[in-house]
Amino acid sequence: MNDTITGEWVDACAAEDIDEEDVIRFDHAGQTYAIYRAPDDTYYATDGICTHEHAILADGLVMDDMIECPKHNGRFDYRTGKALGAPVCIDLKTFPVKVESGRVFVRVN
Ligand code: FES
Repeated sequence: MNDTITGEWVDACAAEDIDEEDVIRFDHAGQTYAIYRAPDDTYYATDGICTHEHAILADGLVMDDMIECPKHNGRFDYRTGKALGAPVCIDLKTFPVKVESGRVFVRVN
């Protein structure tokens, strides 16, 4: 399968570990990720560090489909990683997510 070429699925947490419209931090192999549970019960993952300065996004606030950075209130669309305006101008990297048997898996690379 080609799957191994583009990354591996990593078991990150239980689906119920993340409240609806919330985010948690996930660390794997020296990388920090943020995993989100949207109001419609879908899950997303992005880089866990803000692209502006060093801030842990999981310490920020989730509003609908946005994450607000705790440091300078920069906002990103966590579904696409898109930076939504000053002070953030560099998009966040996003990662595929799947939920199986009540576990959340993130495809890291
Ligand atoms: Fe995130 Fe500045 S560190 S907005």
